[in-house]
Order: sequence, then C-alpha cells, then structure tokens
Amino acid sequence: MVQIAWLGHSAVHVKGGGVDILIDPFFTGNPTYPAGYEDGLDKVDLIVITHGHEDHIGDSLRLAKKFDATVVAMYEICMWLGGQGVEKLQPMNIGGRIESHGVGFTMVNAQHSSAIIKDGQPITMGDPAGFIVEIGGKVLYHLGDTEVFSDMALIQRLHKPTVGFVPIGDRFTMGPRTAAIAVNELLALDTVIPVHWGTFDLLSGTPEAFKPLVERSTVLTPKAGELIQI
Ligand code: NI
Ligand code: MN
Repeated sequence: MVQIAWLGHSAVHVKGGGVDILIDPFFTGNPTYPAGYEDGLDKVDLIVITHGHEDHIGDSLRLAKKFDATVVAMYEICMWLGGQGVEKLQPMNIGGRIESHGVGFTMVNAQHSSAIIKDGQPITMGDPAGFIVEIGGKVLYHLGDTEVFSDMALIQRLHKPTVGFVPIGDRFTMGPRTAAIAVNELLALDTVIPVHWGTFDLLSGTPEAFKPLVERSTVLTPKAGELIQI
C-alpha cells in the first residue's frame, strides 16, 4: 500500500513499504503547509529535492539532520548540503536511476532554473529536475517546477508512471492550460495531484481552472496534510 499526503506547495509525503519519503519539504514560510504535520512524523528515511529554489529545498537541511535522512538530489545540491553537515547523500543527475531503502529513483528533465540566492547573487544548483519514484509497486512522477515539454511523452514511455504531482500555478511553472496539455497529450496518468498553486498571490492557476480541461486522468485535490491511498 502506498499513501501520499500533499503538504502544501510542491511538498509531498510518500509512505510505502515502511519507508517515509519527503519530496520538496518546504514547511517553514509555506502558508499552505498543514501546521504541526512534522510532529506526527516518527521518521523520515529519504528527502528528495527537485531543484535549488528555496520553495523546494525548503527545510531539507534541518530535516535531514533531525531525522538522519538520506537526501536524493542533483549533484550540486547534494554537495552544498554535504558542506553543511548532511551525511547521507545520494547525488545524481538527469537520466540516472538509483535505489535507496528499496525505492527506485530516476531523475528526469524539467524546464526551469535552479539556484539559491546568497547576498543578492545566485549560486547555481545544477539543472532542475523531476523524479520518477518506484515504491510499493507504484510508479510516481513528481514533475518538479517545469514548463510543458514534448519529451514528457518519452518519460511516460520509459517509466510508465500512473500517479503525477503536476504544477499548475502558472508564472513560474505550467498553468492550468499547459498542464492540461501535458496530462492529456503527453502523459498517461491515472491520478493527478495538482501542486505549486495557491501558496502565494503570484500563483494564479487553480484546480478549479485545471480540472475541467483534463480529459481522462482523475484529478485529486486532497486537503493539505490528508494521507490518501493511491
Ligand atoms: Ni522553482
Ligand atoms: Mn517553485
């Protein structure tokens, strides 16, 4: 059995086969984070980071240390965290697949940018990415932050994901219209969970605008922090 909880913005908790994974754990400063959710976590085995922006690295440094978790991320992000004392790291790059804690991770393309701003200057965090996560017999696809791109069809063909975390907020990522093109024409997901919406006023895309455009996939909009079976 695989369970997932959307934790506001792009943050997701994936639970399956006794393994707890946090993807893009942006808790502090995230107005859509379900307050207190972290207190209910007994453990975190793995932290997956799609790219270097603050709303995705989020609390990764603090959480990796607190839970002694393994971080799965782009090489540059792993080295940056390693330099700050995170010990368990699984650096990778686009196209690579690894296994950790019995879970398969493949890093795939995303069309975006990836940097941390320090003292007004960007520090590059390598390329942005999405992740294919194979857990408990399910294949999940967290798209990260991205524009729609035609190679999503290749990602679908190669990895056959059935559940997707799809950004719809517009401005920094796909909006409802382009996300619907991704879901209808390039991917073949049974279940779509919209992410990267409603966090800040800058994000205009909503599930209400997205849902009517989706032709086949089931669009789920769980409450933040609600664990659902997929
Ligand atoms: Ni971003
Ligand atoms: Mn973002």
